[in-house]
Amino acid sequence: MNNILIDKLNKIKTDRPPVWFMRQAGRILPSYKKLKLKYTFDELMKNSDLASTVSLLPVKDLGVDAIILFSDILVIPDALGLNLEFTNKGPIFHNPLKIDNPNKQLIFDNTRLDYIYKNITEIKKKKQDLPLIGFCGGPLTTFCFMFRGDVSDKSFHQAIKFLYKYPKQSHKILDLITEASELYVKQQIRHGIDCFQLFETYCGLVPSEKYIKEILPYSQRILNATKDKVPSIFFPKNLGTGLKYLNRSICDYVSVDWQIDINDARQILDKELGIQGNLDPRLLYSDVKSIQIELHKIKQFASSNKDFILNLGHGFLPDIDYKKAKFIVDWVKRINWKN
Ligand code: CP3
Repeated sequence: MNNILIDKLNKIKTDRPPVWFMRQAGRILPSYKKLKLKYTFDELMKNSDLASTVSLLPVKDLGVDAIILFSDILVIPDALGLNLEFTNKGPIFHNPLKIDNPNKQLIFDNTRLDYIYKNITEIKKKKQDLPLIGFCGGPLTTFCFMFRGDVSDKSFHQAIKFLYKYPKQSHKILDLITEASELYVKQQIRHGIDCFQLFETYCGLVPSEKYIKEILPYSQRILNATKDKVPSIFFPKNLGTGLKYLNRSICDYVSVDWQIDINDARQILDKELGIQGNLDPRLLYSDVKSIQIELHKIKQFASSNKDFILNLGHGFLPDIDYKKAKFIVDWVKRINWKN
């Protein structure tokens, strides 16, 4: 097994940093776009042969050091009864949360996630020599999406208004999301994931102090569901200076967003925490020379920071040229990391 990612997460010395990308499965790959001409996103996700094939495309096409499960963070709200549909214009819930119904009852049906566990088994069957990353959405991010019933509504205003207006009901929902996610993580582990990442993309919607005090305990519960089993990575996008409150009781690695300089992030993060990141995804719109300049900055950082995984500071944008991503992977594998 190419254990470079798992070794890194376990603080074992490696010859170079591992490299993988958020949102590597799908989106940018011509091989994925070809499949999308024939199948809907839902069909790709729910058929274990197709889902495992898609999960493995970036290994073949980009040469990354890890597989990420082809799924979505919105499957938890679906299992909580919100009835998810991936339309051509994006995901919608047919039964979203609404601000005028603060006491709506939610019931978690774990069987609605069974196909995902089957997909994990299938990926592990097809490819045993690379680690598989499992994931789910962070509690705030998941909560925010649960208020979106309409693809045209791209704001999270209703969700955030609800959070401030109905704190008691909000915490009940956050607790339920967390309970469902803890179970989901444990089942992912049971079926064979090798590490876990929590995508908390929307930390920046509330002051970081509010996030740390009120939401982080839920994130910690989900991340701790991995304890003593598989390593964990936390992606708290736009947490800003709130990064200083994170430590090893929460996760093993922190995936840092593109807004903060990686050297600054290293300074404010607890020394025991490893760091993943943080290329600006829009860098892949620029030419190879400009990309190389940024990669050299990363190399400099990595020369004095061994607990480091190379990744983006947020997921790939859909309209970049996948060859630029391949260039990054090839570069990581080609250069001499010893000097
Ligand atoms: O990393 C990977 O490639 C693995 C699979 C993965 C998907 N979504 C597949 C997907 C992962 C890890 C996600 C995470 C996700 N999903 C997040 C958190 C990370 C982030 O980037 O912020 C969020 C907020 C979502 C919610 C979501 N899913 C939205 C808003 C959309 C529509 C717009 C978009 O981003 O494309 C999706 C759809 C989605 N999820 C697609 C894929 C490949 C595109 C669907 C398609 O191909 O038709």
